Amino acid sequence: TNEQRALLTIFGASGDLAKRKLYPSLFRLYRKGYLNEHFAVIGTARREWTQETFQEIVASSIQALHPTEQELQSFIRHFYYQALNVSEPEQYAALKTLATQLDETYHLAGNQLFYLAMAPQFFGTIAGHLHSENIVTPNGFHRLIIEKPFGSDYHSAEQLNEEIRSVFDEDDIFRIDHYLGKEMVQNISAVRFGNNIFESLWNHKYIDNVQVTLAESLGVEERGGYYDQSGALKDMVQNHILQIVALLAMEAPTVFTDKNIRYEKIKALESIRLYTEQEAQKNFVRGQYAEGKLGAKEFSSYQDEPNVNPRSTTETFVAGKLLIDNFRWKGVPFYIRTGKRLTEKGTRIHIVFKPTPINVFREANAPIDENDTGLRNVLTIYIQPTEGFSLTLNGKTIGGDYQLRPIKLDYRHSSDTLDNTPEAYEKLLLDALKGDATNFTHWDEVAQSWRIVDIIRQAWDSQPEVDFPNYASGTMGPDAAFELLERDGFQWVWQP
Ligand code: BG6
Repeated sequence: TNEQRALLTIFGASGDLAKRKLYPSLFRLYRKGYLNEHFAVIGTARREWTQETFQEIVASSIQALHPTEQELQSFIRHFYYQALNVSEPEQYAALKTLATQLDETYHLAGNQLFYLAMAPQFFGTIAGHLHSENIVTPNGFHRLIIEKPFGSDYHSAEQLNEEIRSVFDEDDIFRIDHYLGKEMVQNISAVRFGNNIFESLWNHKYIDNVQVTLAESLGVEERGGYYDQSGALKDMVQNHILQIVALLAMEAPTVFTDKNIRYEKIKALESIRLYTEQEAQKNFVRGQYAEGKLGAKEFSSYQDEPNVNPRSTTETFVAGKLLIDNFRWKGVPFYIRTGKRLTEKGTRIHIVFKPTPINVFREANAPIDENDTGLRNVLTIYIQPTEGFSLTLNGKTIGGDYQLRPIKLDYRHSSDTLDNTPEAYEKLLLDALKGDATNFTHWDEVAQSWRIVDIIRQAWDSQPEVDFPNYASGTMGPDAAFELLERDGFQWVWQP
């Protein structure tokens, strides 16, 4: 059977992530039989909840999945609660007793998965106490899942990593980047390595530029306190965007295993040029949203959001150009952008191919650019909310002359398929239970991503006077984000 045996201990069991993502994902795994008789969950948090209260919380968080009464009851029976102040070593004894007891009751073979879904300043403390209070035992497996943010710059990340690594082996650490659990992010590798028509063209000889957009229409909502300290660069670029760039840029692994992929991703990240501060100023653009309108809705400015400093200089938008100094990518810009309060929610990748060497149809077509070449082919990967691919080819208009026009081959998953698409967290939890680290980030990847991002942050911090806000809510960011490409003779393919 596919059943995974383990005790899952969730730190931060009363939190938003646990309720919105983890409990529903565990229930989906239960329904599919990956979790069955041999699993138990311990929820911990500071507050004194009874077992019943905890089970009710879990029950209400899976309502949207419409469990039958019987499914619901048999599922929530596996949930246990233990109040815990993670900084108090003596409180871990109760956790240990409960863990030992559940291991016997459910025949869990000593397998334990610890999920840290709480503020990162506690990660090191928790890992340390799991070790010193003998909760990590020699039997079975002991894996740690940690949520972002993993540090706030290279040095804090390194320190955190040392604390965790003194207790857990790298192979047992599963650093979550939930974008890696998305179906279409995983499809990047399928498209590249499963199609010779793309893989053979996937280099500087045939590709003009690559564009990665992670647009959000939401503002900071309730997270002003966290976000104002973080900003878009650390919130989205250091993790999600650089992971996507690594998957797009890496060499083909010899076989598709976690070790091989990590190795290739690390090489790709290490090939991204580390800018000087001056180059970072030139190649990265930051923005912050002002008030604005989207349809009938009116939005306030970032500085007016709850828990945000009214004179905040935190960026809610980043656009930038990355260069990858290796044989495959020499001279091909990777343009990235992300922001809050943009025109719509959408994650898309565009691979823009070079035009043909000569435009033989130039009599019938106005020159496209000074080189008088033809239209470019574009491969688009739609990651969310729609999932699919499109490819633009150039055909001729019907009728007389050879006027070219782009024709779009378009494939989107049907809504049926989408309903069955496993949620990112569901996949990642199952992978961690199985010990498959393919879609998690290795320390070396995190470290290199911080090195890249730290330089940009420093470049910005050295120029604290910014003209914020600089883009209206409901637009695709400041003008400078468009000029960034125009300077190179390109433009954003996606301009909603
Ligand atoms: C998170 C960021 O990592 O990703 C959020 O902290 C952001 O600010 C979110 O909204 C976006 O994720 P998704 O899956 O909704 O695209």
